[in-house]
Order: sequence, then structure tokens, then C-alpha cells
Amino acid sequence: MKKSSAKGGLKFDTKWSYAPAPETPDHIQLKEKYDLFINGKFTAPSSKKYFDTINPATEKKIASVADANAADVDKAVTAARTAQQKVWSKISAAERGKYIYRIARVMQEKARELAIIESIDGGKPIRESRDIDVPLAAAHFFYYAGWADKLEYAFPGKKPAPLGVAGQIIPWNFPLLMAAWKIAPALAAGNTVVLKPAETTPLTALKLAEILQEADLPPGVVNIITGAGATGAAIVNHPGIDKIAFTGSTDVGKIIQKALAGTDKKYTLELGGKAANIIFEDAAIDQAVEGIVNGIFFNQGHVCCAGSRLFVQEGIAKEVIRKLKDRIQTLIVGDPLDKNTDIGAINSKAQLNKIKSLVQIGIKEGGECWQSDCDVPSKGFWFRPTLFTNVAQSSTIVQEEIFGPVLAIQTFRTVEEVIEKANNTPYGLSGGVWTDKGSKVFKVSSKLRAGVIWANTYNKFDPTSPFGGYKESGVGREGGLHGLSPYLKMY
Ligand code: NAI
Ligand code: MG
Repeated sequence: MKKSSAKGGLKFDTKWSYAPAPETPDHIQLKEKYDLFINGKFTAPSSKKYFDTINPATEKKIASVADANAADVDKAVTAARTAQQKVWSKISAAERGKYIYRIARVMQEKARELAIIESIDGGKPIRESRDIDVPLAAAHFFYYAGWADKLEYAFPGKKPAPLGVAGQIIPWNFPLLMAAWKIAPALAAGNTVVLKPAETTPLTALKLAEILQEADLPPGVVNIITGAGATGAAIVNHPGIDKIAFTGSTDVGKIIQKALAGTDKKYTLELGGKAANIIFEDAAIDQAVEGIVNGIFFNQGHVCCAGSRLFVQEGIAKEVIRKLKDRIQTLIVGDPLDKNTDIGAINSKAQLNKIKSLVQIGIKEGGECWQSDCDVPSKGFWFRPTLFTNVAQSSTIVQEEIFGPVLAIQTFRTVEEVIEKANNTPYGLSGGVWTDKGSKVFKVSSKLRAGVIWANTYNKFDPTSPFGGYKESGVGREGGLHGLSPYLKMY
């Protein structure tokens, strides 16, 4: 046991040295070089260019990945169009459902391998990729498979029809899960897909391509192409695309919205967030502390719905902050493949620099910064869990999305005050309310301008539940029945 020298006033030992419990990556199968998955086959890019994807915990290269240019995007869109018209729209809806079920089952069979690859490529702790990302990704395919042959009952009085080809652009924080969120409803609704994973985390999407081959999905129904922003822009601007589904930064979301204005392409955008996690005096405090920790430190804070603004009612603020610091001191930052790890690696050097610079701004603006003094590995991208107190509504770190393990804490006295403060943000994706009173949950959640509100819990996801935001957090919903309609036109 190590003695903690925390500034948080800890007088007792809080850090246990666990014996390492690493998941072994020995059995996973990764290629050294990945081509583009177009029309059911891995195809060399016409750009002839490749880029590296690295392990953010070691900074070592894992594989080279093809960099698709506009010609490659065109090939993928053509393959998707042909497959939609000649195959996917011709088979029965029940048959479509069977393919989607099969994808879900093969995913489950390869769950362990997918979890390890997710952690290696993106830096998230294996406990999360194993217990959350991969099972939820399979659950989304299972859920939407069930809708494939029930679409006409889903929208009574209307006759739903697929849009055609969906272009889907996803981020690096939940690579496989976001691929599932996008692909499963699109296929169930009878569309075909061109999907682009983020440039720092392409590997589980490419593994998914192998799963699609194994599931015998007809060629061209799903095409997976890799590249960075230029590849994404080529998808957005391709005239053969009928719908864009994007998850990522608000800045890129705005660029996409501008590019699509005046076209008849449909779109859904799932963008940034700055969620308020609100703790009332009558809350179960220990549970709330766990919820705060889960809300902001889960997945290194790389979560659009992260509870990054904490509002604590004045009378319990001291106690909550003390307990929070004690709990944070016990969090283990390090090897994503170790099952003891709570906080893994920051996804990229660029993201680490963004977090560092926002924390510096927070300090410059007068915020009081407290950080865990846990050990971090010497190589790789790491950031210790961090709290800010003495911040104002106008502070940059209270207004801007940090997308890292950094929590800004404010206090409040009344329900009205906290609702006003919580809504004082350009975002509106999610929020949390902790109280013993059901009536307070209803009152607060009905007044918060956010798409998802958790009560006495945080960061819980389910395929049946719609997800999406207000204001600058985006347009449209994903998940549940709500997530199907953006892929359909109704007659
Ligand atoms: P980003 O928005 O640039 O990347 C998301 C995806 O969009 C990636 O696949 C990327 O290749 C693609 N992309 C980039 N430029 C594009 C363009 N002009 N047209 C079409 N596609 C394009 O996000 P980035 O730069 O990786 O992260 C920056 C910040 O964005 C983060 O610090 C965080 O605040 C926020 N973010 C929010 C996410 C969310 O889940 N809402 C996910 C990732 C980032
Ligand atoms: Mg990577």
C-alpha cells in the first residue's frame, strides 16, 4: 500500500497496489495493413496512400490503414447503390432481419477479440470495452434486427420505405458501438451503407468488415472506408448519398450542415455536450459520488454526454467534494488492457493537448485545480483525473467541451437556480439528477433542455432508448424506434 500525499486532505492510505491483471492480446488477429472494404472485398485504395493507427498507451504503431480519396468514396457509394437496388431492396424484410441477427451473433462470438482491439487502438480500459462497448454494440444489432420485418407496424397508417444509401461518419470515443448505432438501423430500414470510422480508431470497424463477410452479408450492403476529415467530406458531398449520419465535434457538424443545406440529403448529427450532473441535499451521497465518478471519468471523459459540470447543493458541497477527492485518489490510471484499470489512455496526442490547454485556461481564469497524484506510465498519453472549484458560469472550462477527465464543480441553493445554471450552455445533450424525491426528478428533468436525463444514475445506455440532443448538441435521435425513422421516408 502506498501512502497518499493528496492535497485533498487524505490522511489514510487509499491506493492499493493490485497485482497486474492484463488481458493477453496474444490470440487476436490483426493484419499489418488494411485496405478499404468495398463491395464485400478488401480493396487497395486508388490513392495508394496508407496512414498509421497507433496504440495511445504505448505510442507504437499497430497497423497501416488505407487513406480513401474521392475516387474510392465514389467506388464505395456505387457499390452501395447497386446493392441497395439489386439485392437489399429485393429480399424480404424477414430475410434482411436474419442477416442482421447473424451479424450480432458473430459479434458475440468474437466479443473478446473485439474488446481487446478496441482497447489497444483507442486506449479505453478493457473493463469498459469488454462489459459495455462490445455487448452494447451486439445488442444494437439484435434490437434493430427485430424491427426489420415490423416496419409497417412501427409507424401505423404510414408506409415506410428506405432512403437508399446512407453515408455514416463516426468518432473515436466508442468506435465499434458507434458503428453499430449507425449500421444496424440503416440496414433494418432497407438502406445500404458507406461508413467511415475515425482515423485514430479504425480497427474494430475493419474487424466488423470481416464479421460481415463471415455473416455472408451480400457484397456492397455495407462498405467501410478509412481516412481522415477529407474522406469524410467526400462522403458528405457525394451526390449519390441520400442521408448523412454523423457523430463528432460540433465544429464539423456545422460544416456538414452547411454542406448539406439546399440538397435533399437527410441528416442526423450527434455533436458535443456539457452535461450538468445535479446533486440535491436529499440525495444518497455515496451513490451520487459513484455516479459523478462514472459520469466524468468513464472512458477518460471521452463521452459527449459526460457529466462534466457538477452542481452540488450548498449544504452538502463540502462533504461531496471531500468524498469525491477520496474516491478519485483510488482510481487507477494506466494500461488499458489491465482489468484493474479505471482510466485508460487519452485517445490521441491532439486530444491530450486540447485537455491540457483547457486546464491551463481554467487555472489562468482563477479556477482552483485539484488533481489525483496517481502514478501514470512514462510512455503514452495520460491525464490524471482533475477537479475544478471556484469557477463561474462564464469560465471557459464551464462553457467548453473538454472531452477529458476534468470536472468543473459549482454550488447552488434552489431548484430554480440550478435549472437556470444547468441550461446556460450552448449544448443540450444530457444531464443527471440525484435526489430522494421522485417529484423533484420529474420537475427538474422536465425543465432541463437536454435530450437524455438520468435520475440517480449516469451513463446508462440501452438500444431501445432514443439518444440525441437539443441546441448545438445536434439534430435527430438515434436508438429505439426514434432511431429508425431518420432512415425511412413515409408515404
Ligand atoms: P471530429 O469531429 O473532427 O471527428 C469526428 C469524425 O468526423 C471523424 O471520423 C473525422 O475523420 C470526421 N471528420 C473530420 N472533419 C470532417 C469533415 N470536414 N467532413 C466530414 N467528416 C469529417 O472530432 P475530433 O477533431 O476528433 O475531436 C475534436 C473534439 O470534438 C473533441 O475534443 C470533442 O470535444 C469533440 N468530439 C465529440 C464527439 C461526440 O461523441 N459527440 C466525438 C469526438 C469528438
Ligand atoms: Mg489508434
